[in-house]
Amino acid sequence: MKLTVVGTGYVGLVSGVCYAELGNSVICVDKDPMKIATLQNGGIPIYEPGLEELAAANVAAGRLSFSSDLTSAVKQSDIVIIAVGTPPLPSGQANLTYIDLAAAEIAGAMNGYKIIAVKSTVPVGTNERVRDIIRSHTGEPFDSISLPEFLREGSAVKDTLHPDRIVVGADSAKAADVMRELHAKLTDNIVVTDIRSAEMIKYASNAFLATKISFINEIANICEKVGADVTQVAAGMGYDKRIGDSFLKAGIGYGGSCFPKDTQALIQIAGNVDYEFKLLRSVVEVNQDQRYNVIRKLETIFGGDLKGKTIAIWGLSFKPETDDVREAPALEIIRHLTGHGVHVRAYDPIATDNFRSTYGSGEVAWCASALEAAAGADALCLLTEWEEFSQVDLNVLQHVLKQPVLIDGRNAFREEDLADTDFIYYSVGRPNLN
Ligand code: UGA
Repeated sequence: MKLTVVGTGYVGLVSGVCYAELGNSVICVDKDPMKIATLQNGGIPIYEPGLEELAAANVAAGRLSFSSDLTSAVKQSDIVIIAVGTPPLPSGQANLTYIDLAAAEIAGAMNGYKIIAVKSTVPVGTNERVRDIIRSHTGEPFDSISLPEFLREGSAVKDTLHPDRIVVGADSAKAADVMRELHAKLTDNIVVTDIRSAEMIKYASNAFLATKISFINEIANICEKVGADVTQVAAGMGYDKRIGDSFLKAGIGYGGSCFPKDTQALIQIAGNVDYEFKLLRSVVEVNQDQRYNVIRKLETIFGGDLKGKTIAIWGLSFKPETDDVREAPALEIIRHLTGHGVHVRAYDPIATDNFRSTYGSGEVAWCASALEAAAGADALCLLTEWEEFSQVDLNVLQHVLKQPVLIDGRNAFREEDLADTDFIYYSVGRPNLN
């Protein structure tokens, strides 16, 4: 099949590359000429394991190309996938400007029947809005469908090529059949719904996963007070198939470009129809507070006042295997620390440059290795569970630090890892080790 994917952000780029890998002919389009030039030269503007190699192989096979000429791309395609950004407005509502612009431009380029699929995460009703925009610009026949995306950063290629399900929101049997065919090699689990339900499935899924995380974080906070171990509790709960064992890792809360944005957007969507989504409001509130878990522990150890202390930070991205720092807990934690007179020494395997430009100005020593960050610090806080951190020799680490204090915000270490060390070790929802 011939596809155009509009928008080369995470979702657009990964989807485009994977659709090409399935044997389709794909043109990825973006308004940003710099991005297109990078892609045409074999570069990938985001860090995502496996993506660069897969893109190169499909470009070489003649199935994948990059262009800033939307009109020409649309004219050559049977299916046009909209995957532009929907960043949050100050109100929390999704900003649909880029969707509207893409719809109008696509309409202007129509030359016969096409399926226009929206992959961007959009509020319920947006596909109807896209349909109206296209209709107002062209008399050409088309079907517009919702095609929500469930990939995770860091495992985006794997998630796209091995999905749990494909959700298609369509009110046209013809479009639904084409989507079944397009995704047939990926899974048998192709769920066809009405358009509004497909739009809702995306928000409800992300909101539910965020709820699991905030739930286990609150259980962790209670475990700390009653002397239980949240990792054992989560494992014990997870064996129940009705609960499942995923997304029950306690820590310092979720970040990233999806859960924070989509939970706020769903609260807004509900509010727009006079429904107060109380549970989800609490999920967001719990997540916000959970970041301070690390700071509260530092304050407990140092008797309240952190001024003048040197704190090492390991991990700046919102999760491992990505350089994405959007809504990363590290942003707020480091801003709080530096704002309270703490000297911060920070290290991340790949996200430091992104972090520095998002973080803005502020006294932070940016370090080139995990041990360099720890050197001379009064305490070390692990904020992202990069594999490399659990490989560090803890005996070396405790002597590099001024004091062997380790706050593990992601439960990356096990009790036995620390057995032969003198660490004062605080994690999340597990007993402290002194
Ligand atoms: C999330 C969803 O998992 C995807 O299904 C969805 O497609 C995507 O949002 C999206 O809407 O585009 P992503 O944000 O890339 O994917 O990352 P996740 O792996 O879901 O992690 C999100 C955050 O939750 C991270 O900060 C992670 O550290 C945290 N998390 C995750 C926990 O604190 N505990 C867990 O058990 C799992």
